This record gives sequence, structure tokens and C-alpha cells, in this order.
Amino acid sequence: MTPMKWFYSFLKKYRKLMVLGLALTTVVAALSIVNPYIAGIIVDDVIKDGNYYLLPKLILCLLGVTLAIGILRFLYQIVFETASQGMLYDMRGKVYRKLLQEDFAFYNKKRTGDLMSRQTGDMDAIRHFVALVIYIVYQSVLLFTFALLMVFTVSTKLALCMLVVLPFTALATYRQSKEVRPAFQRNRNCFSSLNAFVQENVSGNRVVKAFAKEDYEIEKFNKENDKFRDAQISASRIWMKYVPVFEILSYALTVVLMVYGGYMAIRGEITLGDLVKVNGYLWMLNTPLRMAGWWINDIQNFSTSVEKIYATYSEEPKVYSPHAGVVHERLKGNVEFRNVSYRADDEDIVMDINFKVKAGQTVGIIGSTGSGKSTLMNLLCRFYDTTSGEVLLDSVNVKDYDLYNMRDNIGMAMQDVFLFSDTIEGNIAYGRPSCTFEEVKRAAIMADANHFIMNLPEGYDTIVGERGVGLSGGQKQRISLARALLKDPSILILDDTTSAVDMETESYIQDQLKTIKKDCTKFIIAYRISSIKDADLILVMNNGRIIEQGTHDSLVAAGGYYAKAFRNQYGEIPYELLRDEEKKQQRSFA
Ligand SMILES: Nc1ncnc2c1ncn2[C@@H]1O[C@H](COP(=O)(O)OP(=O)(O)O)[C@@H](O)[C@H]1O
Ligand SMILES: [Mg+2]
Repeated sequence: MTPMKWFYSFLKKYRKLMVLGLALTTVVAALSIVNPYIAGIIVDDVIKDGNYYLLPKLILCLLGVTLAIGILRFLYQIVFETASQGMLYDMRGKVYRKLLQEDFAFYNKKRTGDLMSRQTGDMDAIRHFVALVIYIVYQSVLLFTFALLMVFTVSTKLALCMLVVLPFTALATYRQSKEVRPAFQRNRNCFSSLNAFVQENVSGNRVVKAFAKEDYEIEKFNKENDKFRDAQISASRIWMKYVPVFEILSYALTVVLMVYGGYMAIRGEITLGDLVKVNGYLWMLNTPLRMAGWWINDIQNFSTSVEKIYATYSEEPKVYSPHAGVVHERLKGNVEFRNVSYRADDEDIVMDINFKVKAGQTVGIIGSTGSGKSTLMNLLCRFYDTTSGEVLLDSVNVKDYDLYNMRDNIGMAMQDVFLFSDTIEGNIAYGRPSCTFEEVKRAAIMADANHFIMNLPEGYDTIVGERGVGLSGGQKQRISLARALLKDPSILILDDTTSAVDMETESYIQDQLKTIKKDCTKFIIAYRISSIKDADLILVMNNGRIIEQGTHDSLVAAGGYYAKAFRNQYGEIPYELLRDEEKKQQRSFA
């Protein structure tokens, strides 16, 4: 599908309205030729020939036509506005739904501000086109044609003389549209980039402040701002160059009429009334010539926007739900990784992962930052698909499940906690909005969140700001944990969920986790050995590989990395397992 076909697929639904609007526009264009015609009659028949009795009728006619044009204009504007808003509503909805389907890989690469500007600025360019540009261009073309036909009825010679201007206008229009197109594309790219920059800075404002980097950010902003301004200016330079051309061409018409038409009137080839009539049509002939350049801008702007939106829209997610995927209301929770490897951007992220867990068991995963722990969980949830090997859930490849049904069975507290700007209750109940308050509270108690929530002025009704502003890291983690627990999942994943809570709270949470349903399989990613030492299976990861696996006792007995980590006071990662940067960091702290 081409971008334009895609656009048309939205317009199709409003075809009838558009046709009605265009029909009204046609009537208005046809009515517009009446008044100059009457003016001609007034000059020839009333003033020159003295038929004054005609005057009241003619004036009534003038008024009637003017009133009709006013009313019809009002109507078709409503029609086009309705069609454009309806179409945009559908388009926004469809693009948004598609955005929700996109996978992690899509969001890793896209900038939020960039996606936002598609939904706002680009959509508006499309609305502007449907609501305004379409009928204005159509009406102007009609007016021009009708007026020219009327001039032909007055005098073929005069009309042909006026026509001489047309090829020049066509040429100028063509050249401007070719030149202005790349400039508009650059324009919109700079706009997206500026948008993305501002969006990032506003959400990362606290970091900017903490590092006192305001000046640095302002400098970066100025660069983006400059780029956008320059793009705008260079685009406007192009069409400004053409404005005088279009103006001259439109005035050329007046000159032709005055000189050649005047000459013909003097020689008696046309009457004075004819001259007035043609003069009345002049604006209908002029306007399209003068405005052609502007419309090219609007049309180019529109088509660039359609292409940009469609480019994002047409990106198909690599991870998608299979047709007629396996649906299990409730999965048991047996998990197996068989020779799993995952590569991204030509880099091995995890390699040769093999392990097996039975439903209800607890798996602890430990390893330095960047060793691939979160990636294992992302593969299990199918946020990414494995490059080779398979992830089996209850002996079925995760790729064969209905994606949404499978994820519904997994409760995950992610490493970077995201809270919505909603009440705390709303955030915890996100996965099961219909649950009772008692259930929300129970989950919060298990996550040791109830206590601090009750101490907030509005308790569970407290609105947490965007991303949970106003809560401490540990508090956010506990809300996120409660959210995962409330789902009552077959598989519970806690990715570094207790890193920001104190030891005491952590051991309380550990105890609580033991009380949840026996058949729930738990994955606990942690840095502290205390968080995972009771697990049925412990995976020690390094550089994308599992370097040791077993129970706490067997790993300690084996005397490998895990044993060292254990000896290093419960949970420090052994020095050898740290990455070079972290070693440097440690040294600089020491
Ligand atoms: N989709 C991806 N594309 C590119 N790099 C990735 C992707 N997923 C993970 N990585 C990289 O793989 C490494 C392991 O990441 P991760 O699993 O998050 O580590 P951990 O959770 O153990 O800290 C990191 O260097 C990360 O940048
Ligand atoms: Mg991680």
C-alpha cells in the first residue's frame, strides 16, 4: 500500500460528505459568475440604454445571490470540517492502536517526542488539507474555468490573450513544488527532532538539575532550535522566490484586460458592459494564479505528513501473536530454556542458555549489570524473540501461544518502574481493574507498601505524578511489586525489585512471597545473595552466559564465582565479575 492509498482508506468512509461538500462548492462557484454578469447588464441595459425599471430586479438578484453564496459557504465549511475531524479521529485511533502493538525493538529505537509529533503536528497538517485545502483548490479551479468560459462568451480573442498567462503559471507551480518538497521534508524532520529533544528534557529534568547541566542543555536546545529555524527559513526562501512570479503573472491578466480589452471597447468590438463584466471575473482568474504557490506548500506539507505517519504505521512488529495461537486460561508455569541465544544489532546478548524449572519453583538469577539477566526475562515474556533455540512454557514454545493470553499469565515487576499518573489504587489494580479494594490492599500488604500508603494524606487515592514523582525509589518498587502480585500470575518475575528497599523490608517481602500460591513459578533477579539463596535453582550469569547453576548449597560447595560472592559478605558481586567500568568506578570511590 502506498501512503496515499492508506490516507484514502480513511477518507473513503466520508466519501458521501466530501461529495456533498464538493457539490455545494460547485454551486457556489457557479453562483459566483452571476454577479459580474449582472453588473455588465446594469452598465449596458440600465445606465446606457436607460431601462431603469430593470434596476430593482437586478439589485434584488445581486442580493439574493450574495446571500445564497454566504449560506452555502457556511454549509460546506461545516461539511468539510465534519469530514476532516471524523477522518482524523479514525486515523489517530488506528495509529495509536498500532503503536500499542509495536514491540520493544520499535520503542528502543524511536524517540517519544518524534512519535508524539506524528500524532500532533503531522495529523494536523492532514486535517488542514481535508478541511480546507481540498475545497479551496477545487473551488479556485472551478472559478477559474467558469470565469474563463464567461470571458470566451464575451470575446474569444480577449479570452485567448488572457490564456497566454496559464502555461507560465503552470511552469512556475511545477518548479516550486519540486524545489519545496525536500525543504518541507527537512522542515518536518527538524520539527520532530526539536520535539523529541524538548520531550526528553522535560521528562529528564531532574537529572539535568541534579547535574547542573542547564547551560549545556540550553546550548543543545539552541542547536536544535537553530536547525528548525534554518529549515523553516530555507523552505520559505524557496517559495518567497516564487511569490513575485505568481503576483506578476496574476497582474499580467489585469494588464491584458485593461490594454487589450480597453482597445477592443474603444473600437466597439465589445461593449462597456462587457468590459465591466470581464473586470468582475478578474479576481476569479487572478486568485488561483496568485495562490498556486501557497497551495503547493500546503499540499506538499500534507503529503510529507502522510508519508511520515505511514512510515511509522507500516512498521510491522517482529514479535506478534500467531494466528490461532494456543490459549490456556491458566498456565501451569513449567519453564524451559533450550539452547537459547539472542542477538541484537550484530551483538550476542545471551548465548547457549539452558535451564529447566518446574511449576511452583523459585529461580534466582544473579550476575553483574549487563550480563543478560533482564534479557532472559524479556525472552520469556516474548518482548523479543530468540535468535536460536526455544523458550518453552508448559512444553509449548512461547511463540505458539496467543501472545496476550500468555502475557496475561505473567506478572512482572520491571527493573525500571513505571507508574501511571493515576491513584495508587489505580496503579496497583492496573492488571485487574475490576478487583476489589480488599484485594488491592492485600497485595500492598504483601509488598510491604500498605504501611507507607496509609501514611500518605489521601492513602490509596493519592495521585502519583507522572512516573511516580513524589515517591522514593523503594516505594515505587513496592507499588510495582504489588501490581505484579495482584495479577495472581502463574509466573512471577521480579527484576531487581527489592534493590532500593532496606534489608528488613526485603526479608519481610521474601517471607510474604513464600506464602503466595504454591504453583506460582517465581523468577527473582537480584544483587543480594540474601534475596535468592533459598531458590530452588540459582543461575549465575556473566557476559550473556550461565556460568554456574544449582542450589545455594551446591554452588557454595562448588567454590566458584557464586561461592566467592557469598563469602564477600552476602551479596557483593566478586571483583572478577565486575565490568571494567565498574572496577574503575569502585577504585575511584575507594
Ligand atoms: N534489544 C537489545 N538491543 C541491543 N542491546 C541489547 C538489547 N537487549 C539487551 N541489550 C544489551 O545486552 C546487555 C544485557 O542487558 P540486560 O539483559 O538488560 O542485562 P542485565 O539485566 O543483566 O543488567 C546490555 O549490554 C544491553 O545493553
Ligand atoms: Mg537488568
